[in-house]
Parts: sequence; C-alpha cells; structure tokens
Amino acid sequence: MALAFKFEEITARELKPQLLELDGISRESVEAHYKLYQGYVAKRNEILATLDGVDLSAPNQVYSEIRALKIELSFAVGGIKNHEIYFEHLGGDGGDPDGPIAALIKRDFGTIDDWRADLKATGMAGRGWAWTAYDWDEGRLFNYIGDTQNTYPIWNATPLVALDVYEHAYFLDYQTDRASYIDAFFDNLDWATVNDWVSKYQIKTK
Ligand SMILES: [Fe+2]
Repeated sequence: MALAFKFEEITARELKPQLLELDGISRESVEAHYKLYQGYVAKRNEILATLDGVDLSAPNQVYSEIRALKIELSFAVGGIKNHEIYFEHLGGDGGDPDGPIAALIKRDFGTIDDWRADLKATGMAGRGWAWTAYDWDEGRLFNYIGDTQNTYPIWNATPLVALDVYEHAYFLDYQTDRASYIDAFFDNLDWATVNDWVSKYQIKTK
C-alpha cells in the first residue's frame, strides 16, 4: 500500500525583469535568491514524488523516512512561498504606504515608522525571515520572526510583507551590514502589490 494522495508538479514563476534593476539590491543577489527558489520548487516536486512511492506495508521502517521527507517538504514549500512573496512585492518605489495597508499599519502599530522599526528589529534579530502578517484570529497585523524557511509561520495568518534576511540576501551587496540591506528592502517595496493582496484577501481595515 502506498501513501494515499495525489500531487501535481508545480513550476517556478518567472522573475519579473524589474527585479534585476532594484536600488541597492544587485542583480547578482536577486539571481541568487531565484536559483534557490528554483531549487525549492524542484525539491518540492521530487519529495512529493518520493512520498507517492513510499510503501506502507512495513510501516515501522518507513516512519523515519516519512518524517525526514515531510520535514524537508515543509522547508521546500516554505522556501517557495516566502520567495514568491518577496519577488512579487519588490520592484516598487518604497516610501510610506498608502491605501488600506497604510490604514492597517497605523491602526495596529501606531505609525508607519513604528511598524518599520519593529520589522527592521525583527529582521535584525531573526536568522532567515521577518514577516508582516495579518492574523485572522486576532484581526490584526503582527511582525513575526522566522529563522528558516519553515520556522516559525503562524497558523491562520496571511503574510503581506516578507523580508528575507538570510545571508544570501545581503552578503554580496553589504557583507555583514544587514541593516543597510533592510533599508534597501524598504526602498524597493511595491505597496500597490501589497494593497492588491489586502483587497484580494478581503482584510477589513476597520
Ligand atoms: Fe532568499
């Protein structure tokens, strides 16, 4: 007996050309992210194909294999989702947001500067990611910390800003100066994209 699920392969999204012309984040850095992202897509497909073939007739022998594969799967899927947000919401002019995301940030953090300071501190403190996410249970935004692709997403929260602070994100451009990279990240945010997500997910601003 095999594990009972079906899966389809997914393909990597194309990189938007404007991502190769960001201010303060080099083409080489973006290409490094993109290569890793393509690797996560391939890994996700490979792991699911392997799981599809796992033979459950000797379950005690396969549990450790399933454990390893499913943990690795969470890392690959995290790497896909995190980078799709990252790529999608860069390529803009940064600055202060307007529209519904601005209303949400002001309501839940006080000011845009307070939100920015909190996300920057979270990014300095983390080892892989910092996210601004809307928590549907609490009905508000939080800045959550992530150490790797699969730690520590929160259930029932929707990420709206994804700040990659893995070393590959900044070392080529800033060496150990992660703070300057984070400033450059803010300078390239495309708030229109974030506002599209707020609308699409029907997040209420009041
Ligand atoms: Fe990355």
